[in-house]
Amino acid sequence: MKLVDAGSLGAADLEVVRGIYEDGFAPHLRADFAGLLEDRAFALVDDVPIGFAVLRPLADTGWVFLRYFVAGSRGRGVGSLLWSHVTRAMGEAGFTRMVHDVEDPDESGVDADEVVVRNRRIAFYERNGALLLPVADYLPPHGDEEPHPLRLMAVDLDRSPTPPITGEGLRAVVEAVYEHRYGLAADHPAVRRTLVASRLG
Ligand SMILES: CC(C)(COP(=O)(O)OP(=O)(O)OC[C@H]1O[C@@H](n2cnc3c(N)ncnc32)[C@H](O)[C@@H]1OP(=O)(O)O)[C@@H](O)C(=O)NCCC(=O)NCCS
Repeated sequence: MKLVDAGSLGAADLEVVRGIYEDGFAPHLRADFAGLLEDRAFALVDDVPIGFAVLRPLADTGWVFLRYFVAGSRGRGVGSLLWSHVTRAMGEAGFTRMVHDVEDPDESGVDADEVVVRNRRIAFYERNGALLLPVADYLPPHGDEEPHPLRLMAVDLDRSPTPPITGEGLRAVVEAVYEHRYGLAADHPAVRRTLVASRLG
């Protein structure tokens, strides 16, 4: 089993990866598949692709953002394997922290089944060492759609366990993600709103 650059896969394996990606994310959560290969896109391959992850460095912060993370099956440990391969590879590439966002279980109007899935997902990442960050009103832009609330998570790649991320350190994460993942400068109203609601502003 190994983690490979998705761009190096043959056409048939790439179609398997596309299937994993499309099964894992509803259309409104997906970016164009071909465009993902311009970021750092990796497949976990065990004869055939079994997982897919897409990452983007957060400029020169030394941190990397996990854009997409999806296992080809559920509840069989593939997600945990993909997580350990991706975090190891990013640590070896010199990044010190990996940050990602997840859908917020407390979003209003979400049905009970979806709340369970969102909480299970967060539990999965926590079990694998990521912290749910104490950030409120985190609403990154989402194409033409109304932004919806997300939660931020992070894991340090150069130490374990990840110590709590608070105060100035937390503010730096929020600003880095907004700016380098979503293109919003620190003085943008959405960023200000998050910082104020998180008592970081
Ligand atoms: C989240 C995900 C990567 C976990 O991979 P996995 O191979 O199922 O995980 P593992 O077998 O290593 O661990 C099982 C744990 O994963 C989580 N999990 C399993 N199935 C899940 C599902 N359908 N939805 C959300 N989380 C799930 C749970 O925490 C589960 O533990 P539990 O059974 O005690 O609740 C996988 O469910 C997935 O790809 N989901 C769809 C895409 C997605 O939501 N990606 C994350 C976006 S932030």
